[in-house]
Amino acid sequence: MPPHGLLRFFACLLLALPALAFAAERTPKPFIVIDKPGQCVEAAEIMRREHPDMLKHQRDRTMREGIRTRKYSLKECVECHAGAKTASVIGEKGFCQSCHDYASVRLDCFGCHASKPKLASGAKP
Ligand code: HEC
Ligand code: HEC
Ligand code: HEC
Repeated sequence: MPPHGLLRFFACLLLALPALAFAAERTPKPFIVIDKPGQCVEAAEIMRREHPDMLKHQRDRTMREGIRTRKYSLKECVECHAGAKTASVIGEKGFCQSCHDYASVRLDCFGCHASKPKLASGAKP
């Protein structure tokens, strides 16, 4: 290869690298930030898989049979998982919504249930 050919080869390589890195980064990922330290109500792996059933089951039992336990309470999820900045689990980067957006899941829960912890919003409800 003549010298300028070699140079062009390296120039192309240099130009291509950032583009490749950019392409890899553009793969969308859910935005999962857990601001509060500690543990979930179950192991994260179980939560990822089973939280829909935990919540739905609890809802049915709560409403139809009057059973109330705190373990899988939606209120408790919100208490822990509301973001430090927004104090909410919904919104673009909210813990619940960002992952649901990613998975194309739509919830109607927060039309009735608070998406923010009770105490974080300050003095007035
Ligand atoms: C039409 C209003 C409405 C919608 C929509 C709704 N809920 Fe509820 N939910 C209630 C009411 C009312 C109660 C009983 C009162 C209470 O305990 O807050 C309740 C109770 C619950 C409870 C037990 C109490 C608690 O805080 O944990 C859970 C869990 C729950 N709902 C989950 C859900 C989930 C998950 C969704 C979405 C898939 C949902 N709800 C959608 C009205 C609603
Ligand atoms: C006492 C605080 C607390 C409560 C209550 C809580 N969580 Fe968690 N959750 C955490 C923490 C801390 C982690 C990450 C640590 C870990 O790996 O266990 C986590 C992890 C998760 C994950 C896995 C996220 C990932 O990395 O993919 C999901 C999903 C989840 N929680 C959903 C819920 C739901 C739904 C509820 C309500 C039924 C709930 N959590 C209640 C603190 C809590
Ligand atoms: C790590 C990603 C992730 C996080 C974080 C997450 N979810 Fe989910 N959620 C999913 C996925 C994926 C599904 C669909 C699962 C399926 O269809 O089997 C789902 C489904 C649900 C459903 C059932 C919806 C329906 O109509 O069937 C409820 C209720 C729910 N999530 C509540 C929550 C709440 C409340 C939080 C925040 C405390 C939360 N999720 C956080 C991934 C997540």
